[in-house]
Amino acid sequence: MNIAVFASGSGTNFQALIDRVKDGYIPARIALLVSDNKDAYAVERAQKAGIETFILSPKGFKSREAYDKEIIKKLKSKEVGLVALAGFMRLISGHFAKEYKNKILNIHPALLPAFKGTHGVRDAIRYGVKVTGPTVHFVDEELDHGPIVLQDAVSVSEDDTEESLRNKVHRKEYEVYPKAVKLFVEGKLKIEGRRVRIIE
Ligand code: GAR
Repeated sequence: MNIAVFASGSGTNFQALIDRVKDGYIPARIALLVSDNKDAYAVERAQKAGIETFILSPKGFKSREAYDKEIIKKLKSKEVGLVALAGFMRLISGHFAKEYKNKILNIHPALLPAFKGTHGVRDAIRYGVKVTGPTVHFVDEELDHGPIVLQDAVSVSEDDTEESLRNKVHRKEYEVYPKAVKLFVEGKLKIEGRRVRIIE
């Protein structure tokens, strides 16, 4: 199966996926990195790993849908079977969500449905939660909303800062995201309404 990873920033989750494909844990190929940001470090990671990049600035596009249609053309040409959003800081259009229904995964740095949006870690620590952690979920038309595949928890200690908590959450992300992608690639995820059953 060909995977396309979408990233806007540093791409440490992208790197975790690259590493787990390379060591054979995920039986698939990362065929493409898509980014909206030519300066993203994720782009360098792709180049180092020999992965094709598709960089598309949203500037000049009339709508999210018009932008996404350009990306979809590229995904089709690469016969992509899974889109893995990894710190892609753009909302995808309803058109894209429909076109790749049940084929887009996202990683979010909080236990959904808590702390949706772009500041999942900051919002959680400011709220004062004692437990938080990453969520991997399927992407639908609504923000941070689709069926949940995996979650894992980290404790928030009194000494934690936003940065230390982000590091803790990130370390968990590097475990759960490759695991969810592996399960998807192996055809072991069955969506039943909002619930995702893992078939072993
Ligand atoms: C990750 O922590 C991911 O959960 C988060 O962005 C970070 C990207 O880090 N995504 C969101 O907040 C989406 N709402 P990375 O570029 O180092 O993988």
